[in-house]
Amino acid sequence: MSQTWLVVPAAGQGRRMGADKPKQYLPLADEQPVLAHTLARLYIAFPTARLVLCLDVDDGWFSPHWVPFADWQRVSGGNERMDSVLNALHAMAAENDDIVLVHDVARPCVTQGDLLALHQAASSHAAGALLAMPVADTMKRADAQCLSKQTEPREGLWHALTPQGFRFGLLRRALETARQQQTMVTDEASAVEALGEYPQLVRGRRDNLKITHPDDLALAVAIMAAQEAHDSGRPLTIEPQATGL
Ligand code: C5P
Repeated sequence: MSQTWLVVPAAGQGRRMGADKPKQYLPLADEQPVLAHTLARLYIAFPTARLVLCLDVDDGWFSPHWVPFADWQRVSGGNERMDSVLNALHAMAAENDDIVLVHDVARPCVTQGDLLALHQAASSHAAGALLAMPVADTMKRADAQCLSKQTEPREGLWHALTPQGFRFGLLRRALETARQQQTMVTDEASAVEALGEYPQLVRGRRDNLKITHPDDLALAVAIMAAQEAHDSGRPLTIEPQATGL
C-alpha cells in the first residue's frame, strides 16, 4: 500500500501581514500559533502520515513542540514556494506511487472532511487532485489605476485551495520541469497541467481561508469557533481516537 506524505511549505515571510514575525507564528486560538493549528488539523486526519516541513534557514521562531507527528523531517525553504516544495521532494525517501499532499501552513481552518475527500481523490485520479471552490463573485479586470475595464466571465473559474495531492513521481517531474523551464508556479496543479495532465477539482469549503492580511487572523478564529460549534470541523486538541487512513 502506498504511503501518505504531507509537505507543508512554511518558509514564507508573510510580508503582506505587516507583522513583526512570519504569519505562521502569529497566535491564533488557545495561544497556539497558526503553524500549530494547521499541523494539528493535518494530524487528526492523517496520524500515520510522514510530514516534511519546509522552514526558512534563518527561522528563529519554530518550536518542535508544535509538531504532533511521530515521523517528520525539516527541510530548508527556497526563494519561492515552489522551491520550498521541491526541496521537500528531493529530501523525501518516497516511492513514485506514494501520495503527497501539499498544504500551505497559512490554511489552519481546513476541515477533516475536506482533507479526507482530497486524499481519496488524489489516490484515485492519475493526475492528482486539488481542493477548489467555484468563483461566486462577478470578476473584474482592472487597469493600473484600479479602473474596472472589463467584466470577465466566471463560468468554469475556480479558486485553487490546498491541500493539493499527487503521486510523488508525477509531482516531482512536474515541479522539476517547471524549474528547468524557469516557469514560476504558485501551486502544484499548475506544474502538473503544464505536463498535459489534468488534476481533479474537489469542491472544498469556503472557510478554508488562507491567512494573508491582518484582518484574516480574527476571521480564522471566528471560523474555527463556528466549526467547533456547528459542523464537521474538529476541536483543535489532538484526540486519541483520531481517524486514520
Ligand atoms: O505567501 P503565500 O501565503 O502565498 O505563501 C503560501 C505558502 O508557501 C505559505 O505556507 C508560505 O509559508 C509558503 N512559502 C514557502 N517558501 C517560500 C514562500 C512561501 O514555504 N519561499
